[in-house]
Formats: sequence, C-alpha cells, structure tokens
Amino acid sequence: MASDLDILILAAGRGTRMKSDLPKVLHSLHGQPLIQHVVEEGALLKPREIGLIVGHGRDLVKAAMKSHAVSFVTQKEQKGTGHAIKCSARRFAGRSGHIMVLSGDVPLLRAATIRTFYQRHKRSKAAASVITATLEHPGSLGRIIRDGRGRLERIVEARDADFSELAIREINSGIYIFKNEALYEGLRKIKANKNSGEFYLTDVIKDLVASGEKVSATAISDPTEAMGINTLSDLEAAQQALRKRIAFEHAAAGVEFVDPSSTFVAKGVTIGAGSVVWPFSVIMGDVNIGARCRIGPFAHLREGTVLEDGAAVGNFVEIKNSTLGKGSLALHLSYLGDTTLGRDVNVGAGVITANFDGESKHVTNIQDGAFVGSGVVLVAPVDVGKGAVVAAGAVVPAGQDVGAGQRVAGVPAKPMVPKKKRKKREQKK
Ligand code: UD1
Ligand code: MG
Repeated sequence: MASDLDILILAAGRGTRMKSDLPKVLHSLHGQPLIQHVVEEGALLKPREIGLIVGHGRDLVKAAMKSHAVSFVTQKEQKGTGHAIKCSARRFAGRSGHIMVLSGDVPLLRAATIRTFYQRHKRSKAAASVITATLEHPGSLGRIIRDGRGRLERIVEARDADFSELAIREINSGIYIFKNEALYEGLRKIKANKNSGEFYLTDVIKDLVASGEKVSATAISDPTEAMGINTLSDLEAAQQALRKRIAFEHAAAGVEFVDPSSTFVAKGVTIGAGSVVWPFSVIMGDVNIGARCRIGPFAHLREGTVLEDGAAVGNFVEIKNSTLGKGSLALHLSYLGDTTLGRDVNVGAGVITANFDGESKHVTNIQDGAFVGSGVVLVAPVDVGKGAVVAAGAVVPAGQDVGAGQRVAGVPAKPMVPKKKRKKREQKK
C-alpha cells in the first residue's frame, strides 16, 4: 500500500464543450463512465485515500460512483482546476507525503504508468512532477514551455497562448504529483487568470519553478494515455484508441480479432490463446473464454458467460450467465440464459432456453454429449441428461427433465417410441 499517497481526481467541471446535459465525467467510454476508468486505475496503486472533487451534477456523479471506495469533496462553483484542488484542503492538507492529481476526463491512463511516475517523483525529491505527452494534434490542451536548457518553466493554456506557443506539441496531461505541503502552500498564492477568471492549478507549477523548487516534467511513452476528453470527437478518438489497445493486448496473448474496429470487447475479459473473434461480436464485462474457441460473427456474450476450451458460438447467438463446456457448440440463432452445458453438447439452430417466467429466472442444465435439435425451447427449470436427444421443434416444459440417453420429441416433448415398437402397436390395432 502506498501509505504516503493520496489521489485527488478532478471531476467537478461542467464539460461545456461536450454540448451535453450529462456531467462530462459520466459520458461513457467503452461501456463505463470516464470517471470510473480513472478511479479504477488509481485504486490499483492502493493509495491512502481517493478523493473525488465533484461539483456540476454532483448527485449524479456520486450515485454513479457509490460502490467505489472514494470520498467526495464538493466544489460548489467551478472556478478552475486550482480552485477545485483548493476545495480539498480541509480534508487533505497537512498530511504527510504526496498528492497525485488525476483528471476525470483523462481516462486512458494506466495504473502501471502512474505507479512508475510516482516512484520517479519520490526518487527525484521534486516538489512537483508532471506527466507530459507529445501529440500530433495538441488542440485545446495546455502547452509545456521549457527554458533554454530544456527544463520546465511554465504551462500555458491554449486559449492564453500566443502563436509560437500554440505551435508547441508537448502538452500537459493534467496528471501531477505534488508534495502535500508544496501543493497547498502554492494554492494559497495563485491568482485568477486574466482572460478566463479561473484559478489554474498549472500556476502552482509556474510559481514553484520561479521560486527555485525542483519540478520535473516526464514525457509519457504512449501519448494515447494522456488523451483528454473535452469534446465528443475527443471521446470518439479515445474510444478507438482503447479498442486498439484491448485488441493489441489480446493479440499479444495469442487471440485473433479478425476486425478489431467492429469488435467490442470490454476491459477485463479473458480469452485463451488460439481463440478467434469474428467481426460484429460484442463481449461484455465478466466474461471468460478458454483456448481455441470460435466467437461470432455477430455473437453477443453477456456478463457471466464462460466458454471452456474449444467451445464455439456463432451468428446471432446471445449468451448470459451460462457456461459452455469443452467443445460444446451453439452456432446459430440461439439464446442461452442461466444455463450450464457439459462437454460436447450440440445446440442446434434457433434453440432457446426460456429462463424467465415473468417473475423470476430459472436454470437449465444440459449434460455431456446431449443433442438439442433445431428450434427447441427448453422451459427452465429443466435438465437434459447425458447423451439425451431432443428432436427438432420440441418444447420441453419446466420440470419435465429429459433422462440420460432418452430421446424426446413434440410439443410438449414426449419420449420417442422406437420404430419396431411403433409397428407392433399399429399391427395390434
Ligand atoms: C486542463 C489543464 C491543461 C491540460 C488539460 C489536460 C488547467 C488550467 N489546464 O485543461 O493544461 O492540458 O487539463 O487534459 O489546469 N474541473 C474541476 N473544477 C473546475 C474546472 C475543471 O473539477 O472548476 C475538472 C474538470 O471536470 C476536468 C478537469 O478538471 O475533469 C480538467 O478541466 P478542463 O476544463 O477539462 O481543463 P482543460 O481545459 O482540459
Ligand atoms: Mg479537459
């Protein structure tokens, strides 16, 4: 645990440039609010405390983050990033150690990066450290001004910058670490910016440099981590960058995404080597996929899905809270919910497990080697035994389990009579 570290996350701004009523940090990136990405990466450092500075839409932000271990600091009026951090003084000033400042609108930052940043900051004994990045299109971000010897001098906001400053491509990521004392003392001195009337946190950096304190500026190796979201097109760009990152990480583990740009795979999904994900597949959080599986095209794997090694899920198949055992197949047009399939089960085209009776959900079990024909409806709760066969078009009613090796057909499903017996019966008539 980093017991001399507190993390503050700026999340009070209105996000005017998003042109949206929703507080900026609640906009969704890859299925999660921006702020959640930041909180979860920060938490991996195990800091003493994570404080969220909330203001605009604070009730919504608090509600969205209620299950995370964070405390809240209110900034009633949004008077700039410096003012926002100042609001945290009552709770955080005077503590030993360091304060890391993260931005709720810089969601692609990785825990590994900020952990290294923190270690470097401590080793350097700097009063403050800032992460910078060199971007092709620095847009509206603050520019890093270095002196003739390459040392950080100050940070100028794009809106306050002159022509030559605007041409600088090294930007302020908005991620800093300060010695606790240096931060809160510095905040007491800053004045409102003449152009915007806001109190800038970046002015604390400028003042520290001017008073001869050591401030280090470290460039990040992957600039996408420093992407700040100010507009909807920034959000779109971040979405693409995150998708690429996720596909890249899976590729490194031996998983092929045939077309990463049309594939949605949530953060934290695990997939074993040799598996292939075909286009237009959506794999939500809390899904675990084994080795050599085939997914899609057009598959939808929802929370709680487990595919064991060699299982395959094909077109227009939706699976929720279900396990497919080794080598089991569901290749066309099915819904499997709250279902456990053993090994080598064949789920035919159009099979449905009817798991909801209008009031509650029920489970289905399909044992090893069973064959479920096309168009079958299994009304849960129901079990299909080992090696059983359910003929195409059958409806198996709730509670009417199909025994091991049994063959059933019809609506409602009944045991099939072998041909010989059927002939004998007919002769007797
Ligand atoms: C800020 C930095 C800029 C940097 C960029 C990185 C300042 C003055 N500028 O600019 O140098 O390149 O981040 O992304 O710090 N917020 C509050 N209260 C406020 C104002 C803002 O909590 O009163 C929060 C916002 O919700 C946001 C973060 O602070 O999460 C940054 O604010 P934003 O207005 O986006 O600043 P930028 O213009 O991006
Ligand atoms: Mg911003």
